[in-house]
Order: sequence, then C-alpha cells, then structure tokens
Amino acid sequence: MARASIPPHEVADLALAPDGEARIRWADEQMPVLARIRERFGAQRPLDQLRVAACLHVTAETANLVATLLAGGASVTLCSANPLSTQDDVAAALVLYRGVEVRAIRGEDLDTYARHVRSLLAGAPHVTIDDGADLLVTAHESGGAAPRGLIGGLEETATGLVRLRRLEERGALACPVLAVNEARTERALNDRHGTGQSAIDGIVRASHVLLAGHTVVVLGYGWAGQGVAERARGAGAAVVVVEVDPLRALEARMAGYEVLPSLAAAERGDIFVTVTGSRRVLRREHFERMKDGALLANAGHFDVELDLAQLRSLARGNVREVRPLVEQYELADGRRLNLLAHGRVVNLAAAEGHPAAVMDVSFALQTLCVEQLVRSRGRLRRGVHPVPVAIDREVARLKLDALGVEIDEPTAEQEHYRESWG
Ligand SMILES: NC(=O)c1ccc[n+]([C@@H]2O[C@H](COP(=O)([O-])OP(=O)(O)OC[C@H]3O[C@@H](n4cnc5c(N)ncnc54)[C@H](O)[C@@H]3O)[C@@H](O)[C@H]2O)c1
Repeated sequence: MARASIPPHEVADLALAPDGEARIRWADEQMPVLARIRERFGAQRPLDQLRVAACLHVTAETANLVATLLAGGASVTLCSANPLSTQDDVAAALVLYRGVEVRAIRGEDLDTYARHVRSLLAGAPHVTIDDGADLLVTAHESGGAAPRGLIGGLEETATGLVRLRRLEERGALACPVLAVNEARTERALNDRHGTGQSAIDGIVRASHVLLAGHTVVVLGYGWAGQGVAERARGAGAAVVVVEVDPLRALEARMAGYEVLPSLAAAERGDIFVTVTGSRRVLRREHFERMKDGALLANAGHFDVELDLAQLRSLARGNVREVRPLVEQYELADGRRLNLLAHGRVVNLAAAEGHPAAVMDVSFALQTLCVEQLVRSRGRLRRGVHPVPVAIDREVARLKLDALGVEIDEPTAEQEHYRESWG
C-alpha cells in the first residue's frame, strides 16, 4: 500500500499500519453497501472541500466510513469515542496510507481524550459525526455557539441524542443534528442484530460458558435487549426478561419469555445482561440474592448499569481475576459472583463490537446523512431531526440488493386503493 503524506497525528505506533490495513480490507468485504456509495461518491464528489470531524470507535469498519467520505471529496479528522475499542493498527493505517489526522490510542486517559476532541474542533469542521455527542457538546461549551462554518452534526447513540435534546430544550443547540441512531435500518440492524450477537459473543469469549441449559436474565427489553434475548434463546438458554415499561414487558411475554421483577430474577439467573441505558439496575439487593457462580455482564450504558461500588463493598476486597476479563467477587457467605469486562460494555470490551455487516448499514446511513446535510445547508433549522425516510429506504434497498434479495412493488391498483383511503 502506498504511503500518503503524513498529517499531524497521535497514534500508538505507525509500524502497526500493515496489520491495520489487512483488517480494514477484511471488514470492507463485509461492507458492500458502503462500497457502492463509495463508488458513487468517487464519481460525483458530493463532499468536495468539506471538513468532517468524527469521534467514533476507531475500528476497521470506521476506517471504511472514513475512506468513503474521502472518496466523496471530504477531508476527515478522527478521534476515538471509546479508549478500549481503539484498534491501534487501524489508527496507524489511516494515518500512513490515507493521510488522515487520527488522534486515538487504545487505553488513553480522559484528559488525553478531551485534548483529542478539542484538537479536532480546532480544525473548524463543517460536519461532526459523534458516538455520544462529545464533539458537538464540547463545540457548544467552548464558545456558547457552534464553531463558525458548522453545517450540522450526526449522532450515532441514544445517550448522545439525550444530551443533544437537552441542549435543544434549553434553546442552546446551534445547528441541525440528524438522529442516525433512530433510523429504522439502524434500530433493526445495529441495536437488535448487532448488539444481540456481539453481546453474546463477548460473554462467551470472556467466560467460555455454555448458554444451553442456563438461565439468562436480560434487563431491559428495548431494541438491544430484544436482540440479546433472541440470541440467548437461540443458543438454548432459558431467558427471563426484566422491564419497567409495561408495553415492553407485554411484548416480551407475548414473545414467549418469562417476565419477572428484578429481585425474583436475581435468584433465578445464571447469567445477567443489563441493556437498559439506566444506572444501578443491578445493585446490593440483587447481588445478595444471586446464585454462587452467577455471571454479570453489561451491554448497555458505559459501566454504570451494575453498582460496582456495592459489589466491591460486599466482597470486602475479596476480588481476584480468574480469567482475563473475569473478576470473581467472593461475598462474606462464600458465594462467588463473576463480573465480566469490569462491567463495561461487554461486546466492545470482550469481543469486537458489531460485525462489519452491521456497521455497513450504520455507516451507509452516516455517509448519506453527511451528503444530506451538505445538500440542505442553510435550510435545515437548528435542532434534532429524524433521518429522512428516503435515506432509510435507500440504505435498506442497497442492503437487500447486496444480499441478493428481491422484493415486490405494489401494483398500480394497490397504490390507487391505498391512496383512496387517504
Ligand atoms: N452494546 C452496544 O453495542 C449497544 C448497542 C445499542 C444500544 N446500546 C445501549 O443499550 C442501552 C439500551 O438501548 P436500546 O436502544 O435498547 O434502548 P431502549 O430505550 O429501546 O430500551 C431500553 C429498555 O430498558 C428498559 N429499562 C429502563 N430502566 C430499566 C430498569 N431499571 N430495569 C429494567 N428495564 C429498564 C426501558 O423500559 C426500555 O424498554 C442504551 O444504553 C444504549 O446506548 C448498546
């Protein structure tokens, strides 16, 4: 691979670049939708002269998103939204072979991370792409208004959208934002299938446990929880769902899962997976009821869904690492609870996050949304907007095409019939 001219960067080691390039190419083979868009972008250059700053997981899949934006004519700077998911070899490959300014080192501390975010903003981006809203929120904090020239932002996560909507409610959001996280294709593929498979993958990689014959308790039956429950059941586990929303609880019951209050579920489970987006969902009263040997994993929000301080205090220092990414907490009565991946998001910390075929859809949405922001520059009001349905449908159509799936069109008579009801 030819070298590009090397931009300013902060990565672990440029010598890792060949391994990163191999990883990027492997992922690319699973990302046909993005490849199609890249081809069109290369011909049309719809992002010419555009400066894009992205704060995302620095992985092979993200590298293919970056390559697509570059093909469209944009310049891209990249930092990491999560210090634990950064693939140092990929970061090196982006710098060395594609000339991208990357500031991401696996395991970097919070101060370094904050500095990286500020460096990207100093480049006065036209468009921000966030996974948690740090770029856009920092942009607002540092001047009270979005930096000059900012056309808009994209947000990949539910949590990031909560932060941005809070800014909007206070009248402080200074640019339009497209809520990529809430697109239908994103919900179905990323949240359900991506989290479902990769959370189970992380649990199995970390613990090497057999799911069949065990009871898996899924706390939170939203999009992500539904995926985890489905995959656990598919692997032969008995699945118990815990919910606080009656509609979601009803859906879980009608899908055939046992639904229990969390205290009752605590006594039944062998493996617990939190996917709620909330905090202290499993805490002292749950730990006190759990069986000896229970596994605890979080696939939801940062590391706050399990009350780790209470777990530590119950174990009174009796904690040992029994396998990589498995810490065993021995309680006063001798029961042992096994915490996976330090309570951090298990599919990222113990596995490789969403498979490339899932990120293909997420990042296809991102690229088409960047194009949309450019097209509607100056016409989109400040605030959080849904992804246009036409983009969602286009991504679904491209993905079906890549899978070799054909579907019907309604007949003229059916269209007419449907419209007659309007
Ligand atoms: N690990 C990943 O890769 C990944 C992917 C997608 C989403 N997420 C995260 O997973 C979390 C859930 O995402 P989602 O899209 O499914 O959200 P969602 O809003 O669709 O679902 C969350 C569900 O949790 C339920 N809930 C809230 N508090 C609860 C409690 N105390 N006990 C039981 N249930 C409770 C809610 O009623 C809701 O049904 C978020 O933090 C999101 O950021 C992680």
